[in-house]
Amino acid sequence: MIDLLIDWYAAMGVDEAIGDLPLDRLAAKPAPPTESQVAVTRIPAAAASAPTPVIAASPAGLAAPLSRPASAATMALADHLLAARQAAAAATSLDALRQAVTEFDGCSLKATATHTVFADGNPAAPLMLIGEAPGADEDRIGRPFVGVSGQLLDRMLATIGVDRDSAYITNVLFWRPPGNRKPTDAEIALCRPFVERHIALVRPRILVLVGGTASAALMPGSEGITRLRGRWFDLAVNGVKETFTATAMYHPSFLLRSPDRKREAWADLLNVKAKLKEDT
Ligand code: URA
Repeated sequence: MIDLLIDWYAAMGVDEAIGDLPLDRLAAKPAPPTESQVAVTRIPAAAASAPTPVIAASPAGLAAPLSRPASAATMALADHLLAARQAAAAATSLDALRQAVTEFDGCSLKATATHTVFADGNPAAPLMLIGEAPGADEDRIGRPFVGVSGQLLDRMLATIGVDRDSAYITNVLFWRPPGNRKPTDAEIALCRPFVERHIALVRPRILVLVGGTASAALMPGSEGITRLRGRWFDLAVNGVKETFTATAMYHPSFLLRSPDRKREAWADLLNVKAKLKEDT
């Protein structure tokens, strides 16, 4: 019977234990507001129709002190956000940032992850790619994009002559969400100071946001990946005066599910290739 139950859990994507004892959530009191209900304010997309709009990766609301009365959960989130911002700002090298991320305990995803997945590739390369979050393979191995979608990403990049010596790859989350669920706004907000510092330290000539989650995390606004892909933006990042040349493309896991979108992905890759040439 228990085997059947475990098989059913696995089929439903429940592949992580998050507590030692079962909890009757129906009997529990209503939960306090979730972290994602905190003001993760988004700025409106700036001049979306302009050729290279300047957009800020840090929504102003995140930097502002919380002035309304807050529940314990929102207070805890505000404390963790402050700690993340301070730890990220204090990191003056990639090694220091890796250590700061590894030591950061404010994002609960860390509790269920096997590894902190920081980055792979060459930080001196002109191209930086930012994906969503580690999956099961990345969590096991500790490097981004090593599973099936990572292998497709490698093949896609190879078509424009790019490999992990000529690109630097990371994610907007450093820990795997249990069962590969979508990350919450709060989880993204907690990692964002480190991601912005990551960009600031690497200073890539070209930044490619891979998939809808990375694009939404760093290009706040209401436009989805279908409208953002293939366009160039000047992305402003906390603590850096100049902006970064950025674009978005479909996530390889989406392309595995929707192979008919590969034509657009191919156009986007050629776009990146041309931009890389332009900037040399
Ligand atoms: N998908 C991502 O977005 N990142 C990874 O590292 C692996 C899969």
